[in-house]
Amino acid sequence: MTRAAYITRLGPPGEIRWGELPDPVSGPADVLVRTEAVAANHVDTFVRSGRYRTPTPFPFVIGRDLAGEVVGAGPGFSPGDRVWCASMGHGGRQGSFAELVAVPAERLYRLPEGVGAVEAVGVLHPAATAFLALFRHGGLRLGETVYVGGGAGNVGDALVRMASAAGARVIASASEQDADRCRAAGAAVVIDYRDPSLTARVREAAPDGIDVHVDTSGRPDLEAAVGLLAHGGRIVLLAGVAVRAELPVGPLYMRDGRLLGFAISNASAADLAGAASVINTMLAAGALPCRVTDVLALADAAEAHRRLEAGQVRGRLVLRP
Ligand SMILES: NC(=O)c1ccc[n+]([C@@H]2O[C@H](COP(=O)([O-])OP(=O)(O)OC[C@H]3O[C@@H](n4cnc5c(N)ncnc54)[C@H](OP(=O)(O)O)[C@@H]3O)[C@@H](O)[C@H]2O)c1
Repeated sequence: MTRAAYITRLGPPGEIRWGELPDPVSGPADVLVRTEAVAANHVDTFVRSGRYRTPTPFPFVIGRDLAGEVVGAGPGFSPGDRVWCASMGHGGRQGSFAELVAVPAERLYRLPEGVGAVEAVGVLHPAATAFLALFRHGGLRLGETVYVGGGAGNVGDALVRMASAAGARVIASASEQDADRCRAAGAAVVIDYRDPSLTARVREAAPDGIDVHVDTSGRPDLEAAVGLLAHGGRIVLLAGVAVRAELPVGPLYMRDGRLLGFAISNASAADLAGAASVINTMLAAGALPCRVTDVLALADAAEAHRRLEAGQVRGRLVLRP
């Protein structure tokens, strides 16, 4: 038997149970992994509550990310390999919040030498999201200008680091107390998101316009975003699950602008593998430091979900079996 955090129906955090389930069945394309650390993501709460619709065969183990050690040979992996995955718990796959998890080999990647499970698992989901936003959907090219709204958050920090490492000029918004951290991550300009002249200051910092605009705050302002776009610029939407916003249609199409949205849950295994390769290079170089707020016991998964839903978490919540 394997101890796991699971649900037997969709609902609030109180639906999460901690207990024993039969060991996962590892098919020929899977690799059996003993979990060392997992992280709690906003999207885990959407799956648990039913806000994000995906198959959840009950009892359904929650959670998306894991880092751990291979315990049963599978395609391309051997026992003892240290590995990670960031795409369990949706699309029909059981989740990662368990002592033992059967992970499809095509979604499993090696942990770089010397990188710990906790430090890795904290950055996987935000960093994979940032990669997809910038390169898969935003089509970022060398020398372009990127605006990151909420540049000191989990996804924001990864966006700033990846965009600046790719040779983009990054303008970010962040609270005053986070400005230095945001600059240290690679932002050329950081503006307080509470500043009423935020949009004017971004325009001043990017007189030729923004090529890729990503707001992670969950409060997208499309009026401002379209007004800031360069010719051919792209606005990438990834947050604001319940938001209704007004779109200035003419100004968007008259500058050949594009408005794109994406959810990492829809990413193909090939896209995620592309993200994994960049993440591993950056992890190995120490270029993706993780802000772990707290390390909880895996048995406290319900508490992790409560804290996320209460908006109490700045940084990452990691759990260990
Ligand atoms: N589409 C996808 O595939 C995908 C994947 C991952 C995450 N997400 C979504 O992305 C969002 C961000 O996740 P996260 O983990 O990075 O959250 P986070 O760490 O809380 O980051 C949000 C950031 O936004 C800042 N912020 C708050 N109000 C703002 C405002 N008015 N203007 C600009 N910035 C503001 C926050 O600053 P303070 O700390 O000062 O409040 C914080 O730094 C969530 O909504 C999540 O669901 C989507």
